[in-house]
Amino acid sequence: MSTTHNLRVDGSRLWSTIMETAKFGATPAGGINRLTLSEEDRQVRDWFRDACEAAGLEVSVDALGTQFALRRGRDMSRAPIACGSHLDTQPTGGKFDGILGTLAGLEAMRALNDAGIETDAPLLLVNWTNEEGSRYAPAMMASAAYAGEFTLADIHSREDAAGISVAQALERIGYLGTEPVGQRRIGAFVELHIEQGPILEAEQTTIGVVEGGQGIAWFDGAVTGFESHAGTTPMPRRRDALNGLAEIALAVERIAHAHGPTAVATIGEAVIGAPSRNVIPGRIRFTLDVRDPKGETLDAIESELRAEIDGIAQRRKLDIDLTRIWRKEPVPFDAAVVGAVEAATRGLSLSHRRMVSGAGHDACNIAALAPTAMIFVPCRDGISHNEAESATQSDCTAGADVLLQTLLTLADA
Ligand code: GLV
Ligand code: MN
Ligand code: MN
Ligand code: MN
Repeated sequence: MSTTHNLRVDGSRLWSTIMETAKFGATPAGGINRLTLSEEDRQVRDWFRDACEAAGLEVSVDALGTQFALRRGRDMSRAPIACGSHLDTQPTGGKFDGILGTLAGLEAMRALNDAGIETDAPLLLVNWTNEEGSRYAPAMMASAAYAGEFTLADIHSREDAAGISVAQALERIGYLGTEPVGQRRIGAFVELHIEQGPILEAEQTTIGVVEGGQGIAWFDGAVTGFESHAGTTPMPRRRDALNGLAEIALAVERIAHAHGPTAVATIGEAVIGAPSRNVIPGRIRFTLDVRDPKGETLDAIESELRAEIDGIAQRRKLDIDLTRIWRKEPVPFDAAVVGAVEAATRGLSLSHRRMVSGAGHDACNIAALAPTAMIFVPCRDGISHNEAESATQSDCTAGADVLLQTLLTLADA
């Protein structure tokens, strides 16, 4: 084995950066609220830029706010080998979703600097804007635009619930960059992330070698009934939007179960139009998230649900609208990069298993442009998108070591 391949990250330095950046958007319950393009997001971005510059990387920002940090290689004609993830979180997010992969990339660069190693291909560390999709839909919009799935104008004009567009939010936090979106070549992309599910922990396995991402369909829905007096309107005369949504929610659960064990479906937002204790709800807006490793299953769930919804609408005299706003097809990762991750894992004598990602990741978009794979590490009780999200220092270190070794292999150090 060459010296290069004996190289390891500094696990305690990685851990301190995770704990240090957890102050940006810290919540009293120990989680993080760092919605994309918020003031807290600006703070962590500034920290990240400064840390990358201190590590000698060349930092730039594209027109969607995505940050790129380049480490030069011997052969600058080669496309960079890229890694990274995201720095934004859910409103009640944790300390690891996204930032682990970004800071592990930074730690890999620092470890290479300490060892004085120059790779053949350049290396590129990326913080993709808005992976989470909580403030602006869809999730992973910047990497999708990077891969040519959306135009810049389309993404810039998307608005949050307060009517602030992506372009305005970027401008406000000083991250409306000048670099055109999608202009950089990417030789390969590797993303480290917590699993966000229970499999690795249950099997006492350290590394998930991720072979692909499952399909995702997002919907916006609205149920319209009739607002009327809660004390005077007899039960048979009501057109209660909330009760209509209650039936929809149970239908969603039943249909997803029927397509089990892989299919999952969630109504994550349900907002009554003008909520009041003594008014029968007349309008409810809701969201629906459906996922499965097979595109056909997403189709089947959608059509079964639409049939149920027609029945509910008729029986309850409601207007029910369900609009699909986004669909991400299942993505297989590149066999050679998956193989490089697995070989790195073996070389480090870490326990591992192959798996498909249940969560969405920017890697699923970049896979359309460049050979891509992911590395998962366990998180406690499989919990994520929750302030209690947690992972151990030793698992984070192991994941970062696999990332470093994979980068070295792909960049031909
Ligand atoms: C975002 O984190 C998603 O996987 O939906
Ligand atoms: Mn994530
Ligand atoms: Mn997430
Ligand atoms: Mn995600």
